[in-house]
Amino acid sequence: MLSSMRVIVFTSQKGGSGKTTLSGHVAVQAELAGHGPVALIDTDPQGSLAAWWNARTAEAPVFVQTTVQRLFADLEELRARGIRLVVIDTPPAVTSTIRNVVAYADLVVIPTRPSPHDLRAVGATLDIVEGRNKPLVFVVNDATPRARITSDAAIALSQHGTVAPTTIHHRTDFASSMIDGRTVMECDAGSRSTVEIAELWTYLNARLQKIQPRPVPLYVAHERPTFGRHDATADVPGFAAMAQTAGTFGRRAAQ
Ligand SMILES: Nc1ncnc2c1ncn2[C@@H]1O[C@H](COP(=O)(O)OP(=O)(O)OP(=O)(O)O)[C@@H](O)[C@H]1O
Ligand SMILES: [Mg+2]
Repeated sequence: MLSSMRVIVFTSQKGGSGKTTLSGHVAVQAELAGHGPVALIDTDPQGSLAAWWNARTAEAPVFVQTTVQRLFADLEELRARGIRLVVIDTPPAVTSTIRNVVAYADLVVIPTRPSPHDLRAVGATLDIVEGRNKPLVFVVNDATPRARITSDAAIALSQHGTVAPTTIHHRTDFASSMIDGRTVMECDAGSRSTVEIAELWTYLNARLQKIQPRPVPLYVAHERPTFGRHDATADVPGFAAMAQTAGTFGRRAAQ
């Protein structure tokens, strides 16, 4: 159990590597494991995590609407409110947004599919994370069971950083469970995907406990923002209302 608030940032320059899927699953799993309260933040203008959360009926984790400019202040407020874990999803690009967000991470998780394209793209992500001198862990995601390329990918990644001992395999319930705002754990508590996520969180939690949270330099909060509010997702049903909610913490606005 974490004694103070920790921040996990899921990032990968490669699109479709599983950032959003794993952000949502890890946040819910941390709650299920009794390590909440957990807050989710979506810094991707695509707003996929926000849209997923908006489809949820469960109360936890909470979703926080923020911007890079406000991130420092909002994280401090979350800490004051007793949030113990913040999970931040990021967009698939190399932008100053990601650099600024990674600056707040206690641990950076880099989901990587076991494919040559994903492996080749890892360097750009590593540059950002290492530039901020942050602890990182790779998670091999969307792997085909028993495929040689999965272990080859893990070996290749291990030359650049720690690889989570749990591989997340390609399972359709990772996609289908998120349609109505749930996770694999909330659809079938006995599924193999549920076990994988539980093991992944156990590992990430252990890593987090060994990391001393470091103060974030204030100047980060004043760097020029590269995204605004989630206007790009204003067409998502219910999202616009949520974005306008005063204070923007907690549950969505009534629809
Ligand atoms: N382990 C998995 N098994 C099956 N499908 C998966 C798995 N992980 C991710 N997916 C699917 O792959 C697609 C991409 O996943 P996701 O949106 O989480 O990636 P992302 O890194 O957030 O993408 P982007 O870079 O566009 O933000 C989604 O359709 C998701 O449902
Ligand atoms: Mg995403």
